[in-house]
Amino acid sequence: MEKRSAIVVLTGAGISAESGVPTFRGPGGLWEGHRVEEVCTPQALGADPALVHRFYDLRRAALLDVVPNPAHEALARLDREWRGELLIVTQNVDDLHERAGARRLLHMHGELRSALCAACGARMPHPGPLPPGSRCPGCGAAALRPDIVFFGEFPYAMERIEAALAACDLFVSIGTSGAVYPAAGFVAKAAAYGARTLELNLEPSAGSRRFDETRLGPASRLVPEWVEALLQSTQSSPMSR
Ligand code: APR
Repeated sequence: MEKRSAIVVLTGAGISAESGVPTFRGPGGLWEGHRVEEVCTPQALGADPALVHRFYDLRRAALLDVVPNPAHEALARLDREWRGELLIVTQNVDDLHERAGARRLLHMHGELRSALCAACGARMPHPGPLPPGSRCPGCGAAALRPDIVFFGEFPYAMERIEAALAACDLFVSIGTSGAVYPAAGFVAKAAAYGARTLELNLEPSAGSRRFDETRLGPASRLVPEWVEALLQSTQSSPMSR
């Protein structure tokens, strides 16, 4: 693969697991007895805003106790050194990719350290607690909510992501169970447009069979190895690395 080739990387909770951010579907994936699908819906926000805001306040506060791991750092290195197109699409709402230094990055499921005005649609940095009824500094409505894409809502930047998938030569999925669409469908889309596909995950995911190659192991080892080999070798097939 030449250094000018286009790469799309999709990341999920598994890439942050070794930093101490719990995954959704693994052990400890429940929150006070609630499945994440019960807390993260527009219906839950409407029925019990205090519960939903508290869930995200705790997760936002927990970011202060974690740091990027070698997998985030390796992707930041790829971002710095890869001369071709690159788009890192993360489903994660933590900020570990950007704290490691990644810039060509999209948060398709929103961001913990951001607030969204349900009245005017404005998004704004919000690092602290967000009580229900907080006012939007723009329109004044008492309608600020966590800037999180809930189940049943449309992810961010889908047009840009679809275009990148259509144009990429290599699609790499890291640390995601393949349980949630539309991200779980990206591998099939990229493959349909002719990209090679590689999965790096701790265990086989729901979509493993759709990838040309799956490598199993912790992201903190697999991602630096993959990035190092990719940057070292610019001519051979990406699947041989
Ligand atoms: N290294 C690599 N992979 C890992 C590691 C690790 N150290 N630890 C766990 N994994 C893998 C698990 O094997 C699993 O396949 O990461 C995956 C995590 O899966 P999920 O918990 O389902 O997380 P994710 O795929 O990101 O969830 C998708 O679901 O709840 C929603 O919006 C939320 O963005 C999230 C979406």
